[in-house]
Amino acid sequence: MIKLKHIYKSYRLGDIEVPALQDVSLHVKPHEFVSVLGPSGSGKSTLMNIIGCLDVPDSGEYILDGECVENCTENELSDIRGKKIGFIFQQFNLLPDLTAYENVEMPLLYHRISAEERHERVMKTLEQVGLSDRIYHKPSQLSGGQQQRVAIARVLAGRPSIILADEPTGNLDSVSGKEIMDIIKGLWQDGNTIVLITHDIHVADQAERKVYVHDGKLSDKETSV
Ligand SMILES: Nc1ncnc2c1ncn2[C@@H]1O[C@H](COP(=O)(O)OP(=O)(O)OP(=O)(O)O)[C@@H](O)[C@H]1O
Ligand SMILES: [Mg+2]
Repeated sequence: MIKLKHIYKSYRLGDIEVPALQDVSLHVKPHEFVSVLGPSGSGKSTLMNIIGCLDVPDSGEYILDGECVENCTENELSDIRGKKIGFIFQQFNLLPDLTAYENVEMPLLYHRISAEERHERVMKTLEQVGLSDRIYHKPSQLSGGQQQRVAIARVLAGRPSIILADEPTGNLDSVSGKEIMDIIKGLWQDGNTIVLITHDIHVADQAERKVYVHDGKLSDKETSV
């Protein structure tokens, strides 16, 4: 499903070139749950941005569901993201003036989805994350864990097959973090493919498989970290 082959990515800052990924190859099978571990600055988010079609590599091959995506245009990438990929970030990125219900509904307004179906999806996904009784709350009236659950409901309402999570429990206490991890594991059991980025070994241990990024290089062995 996700096949990265010999991916290189660097960022240019004036005259300086900062290498972020160097010769990264990774294969994630359908319905697999992989966690990506590595220290700060090692290239984890860069890797997630490429997997999530938010950014393109400088060189290398990226095949997503049998389709080469490394040469796609902005519009094509955005189309792929909209159809297949759901992002969960450390910051919940909710709109502060909208209720939980409206935050979940928001991205659906950009697609041709009837009002009736929107309502169904919003109610169902908020129920799935245990927030049926908080639909009229705004983000400031919700706890951090609840805000992250709204963010997850918003992802689920788009029905992605791949879920990419970048430090989803990074801003949460251990109890809320566990709730979020339970939801993520449930999504995997429901058949989603999950790539989870973290520097927390206890979070990473909950995946089926761990890979390690160190100085822009990926390895399936811990010794490289
Ligand atoms: N837009 C950018 N411009 C320049 N350099 C960048 C940019 N984004 C990332 N980098 C550099 O690329 C390297 C990898 O960054 P990345 O954000 O992927 O690390 P990370 O593993 O996600 O770190 P963290 O755990 O702190 O989130 C770092 O050295 C970083 O400084
Ligand atoms: Mg990062």
